[in-house]
Amino acid sequence: MAFKFITFSLLLITSMVTSQKTRIHKSRPIKTIRVWVMNGDIIDCVDIYKQPAFDHPALKNHIIQMKSNHLHQETDQKRTASKVPSQIWQQYGSCPNGTIPIRRTSNNRPTNTYPRKVIITPHHSFTVVLTEGFSYSGAKANIKVWKPYVESANDYSSSKVMLRNGPLQTFDNAEAGWAVNPKVYHDNNTRLFAYWTVDGMKKTGCFDLTCPGFVQTSREVVLGGDISDLYGSEITIQISKDPYTSNWFLKYNNKEVGYWPGEIFPILRHQANLVQWGGEVSSPKVGTHPHTATGMGSGKFSDFIFGSSGTIKGILIEENSHPLKRPENLFPSSDEWDCYDAYLQKEYVPEPVFFYGGPGSRNNPRCP
Ligand SMILES: *[C@@H]1O[C@H](CO)[C@@H](O)[C@H](O)[C@H]1NC(C)=O
Ligand SMILES: *[C@@H]1O[C@H](CO)[C@@H](O)[C@H](O)[C@H]1NC(C)=O
Repeated sequence: MAFKFITFSLLLITSMVTSQKTRIHKSRPIKTIRVWVMNGDIIDCVDIYKQPAFDHPALKNHIIQMKSNHLHQETDQKRTASKVPSQIWQQYGSCPNGTIPIRRTSNNRPTNTYPRKVIITPHHSFTVVLTEGFSYSGAKANIKVWKPYVESANDYSSSKVMLRNGPLQTFDNAEAGWAVNPKVYHDNNTRLFAYWTVDGMKKTGCFDLTCPGFVQTSREVVLGGDISDLYGSEITIQISKDPYTSNWFLKYNNKEVGYWPGEIFPILRHQANLVQWGGEVSSPKVGTHPHTATGMGSGKFSDFIFGSSGTIKGILIEENSHPLKRPENLFPSSDEWDCYDAYLQKEYVPEPVFFYGGPGSRNNPRCP
């Protein structure tokens, strides 16, 4: 079966490589799904072998890995936020076998250039809880979904799980969670996203499938899909490296979405040495006066009483492909405490819970 599949894939890839030049424009969707409410998204079901990833120079001969290899029995299944459907578009149709759903963007087809700077945002303000120093091969968490105010299309706000390795100026990073990002999504709704960079967010860095890199395998989950209806509830995000192939698999609510191939990361392909959970506000107006009014988390400061702020539970890591476990050390940190703050609750609770976020300068004299 596996052999058959590989032969089949090889045949397809051979034919794909020969038609390389025309393929991008030829990858006409096999089916199109229109979401008529809320966001008006258009979802294209695209042949899985014609997805944007294959335009990455390192992935010319890449064979799709349809499923990750599991070394361990998952022990954390009870937390599954089993909302079905978990993305709004799924109420309007589904993609056929052999295709993947891609959210249509205004420029429609991803461009063929790599590396490409999609977002020009010089400044990033992070409020996270982090663990570092070991060989991390995975991380997981349950993240509460909010819809923070985002001041302008120059800004975005995200809450996520991040794995990183490399020098401060040129690190590799793979991350996923939810984001409000008007520049990428052309609205202020909360959307599932995946992002990666190989140079510390300088020249490279892109969301979802908007540049070649991420290989999608799921025909059920769309990256960039609207999840605004999950407001106040949790999504589960897990990023784990396949121990045999070094592909970093992304799971959303315990379902595999796809992976970042090891080949695209100079450093991260081996391991991560830093894992962070929390929020980021990206804006030219962070670290400046006036400060941006873009919120982080829910837009409220950390609230461990009612949980009305950004909240992350079920914080787990994998070390050297051993089973998921609680990190031994967790350090809360914020780049701008007066604008966005953090509180790690770990006394008298069964597991650590991270509360984070804030309003930026919005009605907040502490952060002018
Ligand atoms: C899709 O493919 C899988 C595996 O080949 C098969 O088990 C399933 O029945 C197919 N589903 C449909 C709707 O064709
Ligand atoms: C998003 O919110 C900002 C700030 O309120 C607003 O200026 C902008 O028009 C909104 N964008 C869309 C697409 O609704």
